[in-house]
Amino acid sequence: MALHKLRRFVGTIAALLDEAPPEPALVDRGLAALRELVREDDWLPDAYAAPSPERYRQYLLYADARERFSVVSFVWGPGQRTPIHNHTVWGLIGVLRGAEYSQPYARDASGALRENGAERLIERAQVEAVSPAIGDIHRVRNAYDDRVSVSIHVYGANIGAVRRSIWQADGTPRTFVSGYSNDALPNLWDLSKDTTVS
Ligand code: FE2
Repeated sequence: MALHKLRRFVGTIAALLDEAPPEPALVDRGLAALRELVREDDWLPDAYAAPSPERYRQYLLYADARERFSVVSFVWGPGQRTPIHNHTVWGLIGVLRGAEYSQPYARDASGALRENGAERLIERAQVEAVSPAIGDIHRVRNAYDDRVSVSIHVYGANIGAVRRSIWQADGTPRTFVSGYSNDALPNLWDLSKDTTVS
């Protein structure tokens, strides 16, 4: 398992945040790093790619000590989907395995939620971004009804602890805090097992 790829990635994101670039540059450079991370599917331990028959899973892979960012694996069983939801912070999404559809939403003049453009297919090794500045509300689903998909997400907060919103089919919002599906995180720091370190 090439876990050093994830360690390098979180180092890149931490260094990027140290520079505190404006959000468009942060998103561009973060997406470039994420594109590199999801280009090869040889580093995510199986425990963080395991689906559940009940609902999609959100495994925390890494959280910054100052909660400036978090990295999660999103695991979709066949046909699974999220409710319509927001994030309240910037988020980067990269598909590691399979594919997913994202349907953006926006509020109209009356404040009601409306689909905002067509559903987008994000295929393996492709990336996209969300944020309050560029569009923060969407519904995501596995593009497949017969296999698991996995995407890697980076958010500008400890996303499992953020108070945000989901919307029911009739447009009623509800506050939620997503939490995480796992209690233990991958150990990125045992360099004695890292063949890239001599
Ligand atoms: Fe999302």
